[in-house]
Amino acid sequence: MQIKTLVATALFALAAAASVDALAQGPIVIKFSHVVAPDTPKGRAAERFKELAEQMTGGQVRVEVYPNSQLYKDREELEALQLGAVQMLAPSLAKFSPLGVREFEAFDLPYIFPDKAALYKVTEGRIGRDLLRKLESKGITGLAFWDNGFKIMSANQPLTSLKDFEGLRMRIQASKVLDAQMRMLGAQPMTLAFSEAAPALRDGVVEGTENTPSNMYTQRMHETQSHLTVSNHGYLGYAVIVNKKFWDGLPAATRNTLARAMREATVYEKKIAQRANDDAMEAIRQAGTTAIHTLTPAQQAEWRRAMQPVYGQMESRIGKETVRAILREVER
Ligand code: LMR
Repeated sequence: MQIKTLVATALFALAAAASVDALAQGPIVIKFSHVVAPDTPKGRAAERFKELAEQMTGGQVRVEVYPNSQLYKDREELEALQLGAVQMLAPSLAKFSPLGVREFEAFDLPYIFPDKAALYKVTEGRIGRDLLRKLESKGITGLAFWDNGFKIMSANQPLTSLKDFEGLRMRIQASKVLDAQMRMLGAQPMTLAFSEAAPALRDGVVEGTENTPSNMYTQRMHETQSHLTVSNHGYLGYAVIVNKKFWDGLPAATRNTLARAMREATVYEKKIAQRANDDAMEAIRQAGTTAIHTLTPAQQAEWRRAMQPVYGQMESRIGKETVRAILREVER
């Protein structure tokens, strides 16, 4: 009896020590860094993923979301992910070529997706899976594609015909396809990190830009840009990525639970993205600071014609196969 009690006490003490140990080790922490405001499609979905991941793992995982380039700017965040200083990011698809995967720049081709349905055929099908797989050799695992939306153009003068772009300094993301697109419009592209875009517009370092309404509104760009054109000439979206070593090193059950949380957060993200952009457009209209232009069919045709040569010029950089596969899928 006494021995039994002794053994039981010893086992209890061991179990208690083990759980204290586990507590001392603390939860698994995922640092999720991004560059936009919290109240954007990406910002809100990052928070949704945090909620889901923490709740589904019963607190075993803690997700720390760092918005607004608080930790890192565009390029730095990719390096930080590869070094393991952060575990999760959702950079725009325009920002993957410094990693050596230029195929992602296909998403920047002007007018490549007529609508979201065409886009989803690509991101949710074989092409999307193959693209994410290309990241593996860079020490990165791709988990999902997230939406933002179609881009508008802004400046301090109306942008409707091609001559309006002549010599205009336009901020772009770090994508050679976007660089070519702006040059074909007659503008002078300037690559700046997202965190530098709004200050550069305010200080006149650049004169105009392209982005989605939600990004423009949350960065208050409409307060310094007096004109915008609803051109929908290009798409802005994201790939959610994790450090591969970190991801592969997670206990299998935890990894599966996090993958499930990501799938749910992705459904949520796609549901809110369009609405967030529509609301931002309305908020800009209400602010009354910016004249909003739409293109006539003739102007639209002129823009398309001017940008079309980007395909021929950039195809070999992006990869002929990728561009053609996307075009086939979109036209199907
Ligand atoms: C930009 O740099 O304009 C965008 O990629 C920002 C973002 O993450 O939406």
